[in-house]
Amino acid sequence: MELISGKEISAAVKSEIAEEVEQMVSAGHKRPHLAVIIVGHDGASETYVASKVKSCAQVGFKSSEIRYEDDITQEELLSTINKLNNDDDVDGFIVQLPLPKHIDEDTVIQAIDPNKDVDGFHPISVGKMVQGLPTFLPATPAGIVELLKRYKIETSGKHCVVVGRSNIVGTPMSVLMSRKEEWANCTVTICHSRTKNIEEITRQADILIVALGVPHFIKGDMVKEGAVVIDVGIHRVKSDKTKSGWKLIGDVDFDEVSKKSSFITPVPGGVGPMTIASLLQNTLISVRRKMK
Ligand code: GUN
Repeated sequence: MELISGKEISAAVKSEIAEEVEQMVSAGHKRPHLAVIIVGHDGASETYVASKVKSCAQVGFKSSEIRYEDDITQEELLSTINKLNNDDDVDGFIVQLPLPKHIDEDTVIQAIDPNKDVDGFHPISVGKMVQGLPTFLPATPAGIVELLKRYKIETSGKHCVVVGRSNIVGTPMSVLMSRKEEWANCTVTICHSRTKNIEEITRQADILIVALGVPHFIKGDMVKEGAVVIDVGIHRVKSDKTKSGWKLIGDVDFDEVSKKSSFITPVPGGVGPMTIASLLQNTLISVRRKMK
């Protein structure tokens, strides 16, 4: 069993980005600028946004964090999005999800200028992804593709089973893995909460990508010997073995599954850091487009 280290690969990606940024700045260009809107105080969102802002500094990007309490109206949020759409200094921005219930996520996502949609969530970005046209790929699926590429994992003709059908991970992941590309060419099956006998399907996976949001859902007996297992889940659970009293676990029961897998991502240090690396890569793509 080999660990797929998102921590190491994301550090390598970030250092490549930092190098390119320094070359740009030395050539007289402005620093890339990523803005992040966060509404309310969701614990996971706070952690993600703090990491995104810190990562911008690490690669030499300018970042702006725009914070609102969860009583902000949808109109106020849309007005901020409009300002960012029209701010030439901002190369890309994201609205951290989830949003409070009184705000319609689809309306918010559709208000983002697709040219600045570095999360790749706008229907125009998604449509381009489906057709294989140049666009911003959603950060988590793009990060997973990067891991498979850098670990030289054979994908062509393999059966990739994706567990979960969210717009952020499961659905775009299934689209990407089925594309006619050297890094994909998989036969793809999507499983979700209504799938019957899910373990019969997960056991067929050569590559199993799990983004269901249920702690330790995938057990050892649900995985084929030698499978490549990618765990997108992240859950904070109580632990009497750590000083803090908490630990992070994924959707995959690592202790059981790692005994059977050929490659597996740990939690933390697997997929998580790659999401941020891909977001930075997307922001750089936005900058390069404007330089042409
Ligand atoms: N919430 C969980 N993952 C993401 C992400 O990749 N982007 C945004 N904007 N919100 C998220």
